Amino acid sequence: MEPIEDLDVLAEDEVRQRQADKDLDEDQLDQIKHGYDEATGDKQVYIETYGCQMNVNDSGIVASVLEESGYGLTRDQEDADVVLLNTCAIRENAERKIRTRLGMLRSEKEKRDGELMLGVLGCMAERLREKLLEQEDLVDVVVGPDAYRDLPRLLYEADATGQAAVNVELSKQETYEDIQPVRYDSNGVSAYVSIMRGCDNMCTFCVVPFTRGREESRPVTTILSEVAQLAEEGYKEVTLLGQNVNSYHYTDEDGTSVSFAELVDRVSRVSPEMRVRYSTSHPKDCTDDLLKVHRDRPNVCNYIHLPVQHGNTEVLDRMRRTYTREEYLALTERAKELCPGVSLSTDLIAGFCGETEEQHQDTLSLMEQVRYDHAYMFKYSERPQTYAARKYEDDVPEDVKQRRLEEIIERQNQHAKESNEEEIGRVHTVLVEGPSKKSDEQLFGRTDTNKGVVFDREDYEKGDYVKVRIEDCTSSTLLGTAIEKTTLAEAARTDSITTEPAVA
Ligand code: 5AD
Ligand code: SF4
Repeated sequence: MEPIEDLDVLAEDEVRQRQADKDLDEDQLDQIKHGYDEATGDKQVYIETYGCQMNVNDSGIVASVLEESGYGLTRDQEDADVVLLNTCAIRENAERKIRTRLGMLRSEKEKRDGELMLGVLGCMAERLREKLLEQEDLVDVVVGPDAYRDLPRLLYEADATGQAAVNVELSKQETYEDIQPVRYDSNGVSAYVSIMRGCDNMCTFCVVPFTRGREESRPVTTILSEVAQLAEEGYKEVTLLGQNVNSYHYTDEDGTSVSFAELVDRVSRVSPEMRVRYSTSHPKDCTDDLLKVHRDRPNVCNYIHLPVQHGNTEVLDRMRRTYTREEYLALTERAKELCPGVSLSTDLIAGFCGETEEQHQDTLSLMEQVRYDHAYMFKYSERPQTYAARKYEDDVPEDVKQRRLEEIIERQNQHAKESNEEEIGRVHTVLVEGPSKKSDEQLFGRTDTNKGVVFDREDYEKGDYVKVRIEDCTSSTLLGTAIEKTTLAEAARTDSITTEPAVA
């Protein structure tokens, strides 16, 4: 039999294998497990998150997994024994940021004579695994988005062997359905709840299907119990999260099939005082049923993020978005008809392969027709493995892309400003998230339609619903005066958008 010291470095599955082979007895297994606990006992982990809300939620899952195996969490990188970067690969500059950050951490590691473990998690893990590992002694663990349960073992293995440990396998099953993420970045008022992972859409510009794998929906019951738990802890808003939430689909053991519209409806019934939002959706799956849930459930917010990406049908086709400009416009009209006052936001890409000046103008005219309250606007950047990278030429010159993006941004700023000006004189129910950025004497909150509002604190507190009259605005924020504290149920009975004479 092997001496126990040599077993320190065994991977868990190897241990399991050996146990199966009757190579180890129960005592030895105990000792290994004990050594493992001791090894992790007083280590502090610092997690840095890049990219989307999905990654913020994933960092919470990572924190939960690590806490469970005895690690402490720190907000201060200086105190950390382990620094984990939860990465994003969606655009080129996201990747560049991580590289710069790794460069900085290299000097930190050298300063500490190597006594700092570094991990790269998330979307960049798979693609950069080889490059990262080539940079000897820098990165200790590389872990893909479906392998976070394996992180304690990987850290232990890397520590024990001095060699980098890697798990970037994608899994069709993993939804982390049983893990309550640590909400260490949360304001205690709004929380994200993951409902599905991955994406099957294969838009030609997008790397997500390659970095995060196939779509998998989380069981309804675990979602509802997480929301109930949040309500009990005093949270007032949940955002259901996924790369493409509208294609959520879960079939219970008893064969009952639950669509996204049904899920949102059920979540909204957990607590009448809990606002429900979701992100992010694909227009192709935005059904009338879903719009009716927005209309009929007072705590489902009157706000929909509907990424259009482009305003020209031919470009949409090359992007493989599966809808035409006209179909998209019809959908936004339907949303406005069924949900009066609905606020729409979007994602837009400027300078996609082959985009002509005329096609770019179509994006601007579509914006003019829809009039989004908010937009996330990007310059196209080629992503490895994608269909566009393989089959299309990234042929719009950089300066043209930049100019087109600026035109889109300018148009959007204009629309946001006009939309905010229209709010003056209206009364909104605002959920208070905390003090405003500029002053402790003022509070910041959001309307049902997701607009940020700042008003004087008086006696109101974080987590309150407050009726606020909008008096003024900037292009990004509404400024108001509090009228009174309210509840969502009460607000639904009276109004949320009472139009009153505009204040000059
Ligand atoms: N280039 C530019 N923007 C992109 N997005 C996704 N992939 C790319 C890319 N290759 C944008 C899309 C998507 C958002 C999350 O990021 O607009 O909706
Ligand atoms: Fe990417 Fe398209 Fe899936 Fe969104 S829907 S994650 S853009 S492939």
